[in-house]
Amino acid sequence: MSANDRTDPTATRPAFAAHRPATAGDPLDVYRDQERPAHPTRPWVLSNFVAGIDGAIAIDGRVDGLSSPEDQTVFALLRSLADVVLVGAGTFRAERYPPIRLSPQVQSEREARGQRPAPTLAVVSRSLQLDWDRPSFTQAETRPVVLTTEASDAGTRERASQVADVVLAGTEHVEVTTALEALHARGHRIVLCEGGTALMAELLTAGLLDELCLTIAPLVGGDPSRIIADEPRPALTRFELAQVLTAGDELYLRYLLRDGASGADPGA
Ligand SMILES: NC(=O)c1ccc[n+]([C@@H]2O[C@H](COP(=O)([O-])OP(=O)(O)OC[C@H]3O[C@@H](n4cnc5c(N)ncnc54)[C@H](OP(=O)(O)O)[C@@H]3O)[C@@H](O)[C@H]2O)c1
Repeated sequence: MSANDRTDPTATRPAFAAHRPATAGDPLDVYRDQERPAHPTRPWVLSNFVAGIDGAIAIDGRVDGLSSPEDQTVFALLRSLADVVLVGAGTFRAERYPPIRLSPQVQSEREARGQRPAPTLAVVSRSLQLDWDRPSFTQAETRPVVLTTEASDAGTRERASQVADVVLAGTEHVEVTTALEALHARGHRIVLCEGGTALMAELLTAGLLDELCLTIAPLVGGDPSRIIADEPRPALTRFELAQVLTAGDELYLRYLLRDGASGADPGA
């Protein structure tokens, strides 16, 4: 079966099954029914990636050949829980990010939990080489945020500020700790990082990733990239396996940073 066959909407789809923990109800509740406590000065940070068996995270520079309808279900579910969807500019450009849209029911559920109807898109970029006319900026439900540096071009920042809130979070480089503190100060408590490799390397090196939701697609032979870029290189960091689901030949893994090593304060 080819990667494209897996996204055929007419094909019979495999159901999710929960293995760890084995649950009788909806297997996807294990994503929903979790405490994700904010830290004293920054949000809880989870990340969602899909990778092939060999670790590839893209095929010809794009993720869609790896992602199945089931993976899209988890992708949408995680978005439904987040206050912010955080992406590096490389991913924003490669994946041509559309506006974040959630169903009316999901919007109501979010509002009942005290969240805004849709998560805020936050893009990290030093160059600010972004298409400000994209619908993700011009038709967003919630005004996006652009996290950039003092060294970025002032004129481009001015253009960006027409469609997004521009936040300076570093001199030459966006400091991810500063960026997350800025999001926390704006009232955001759960940040979903959707990549890409450079931003993930930064978050892991700074010890800021609390949770990783990883889909393993039954494919080999994509691009050589993996979920973190070569630089910066994080210290070896141990995670614990909190959850395993399957759907057909795919694995859905949820890892947590081991034993509060990130300093999460459950009371925050
Ligand atoms: N399989 C998956 O689940 C998945 C998920 C996401 C992405 N991807 C793939 O990953 C690839 C894109 O990743 P990528 O390697 O380009 O990484 P990325 O983190 O998406 O983008 C890198 C860019 O983000 C900006 N950036 C990131 N951290 C920064 C910082 N600390 N300070 C300033 N700017 C920062 C810079 O933008 P400027 O250049 O604008 O300064 C940098 O060039 C694509 O092929 C995409 O398909 C796969």
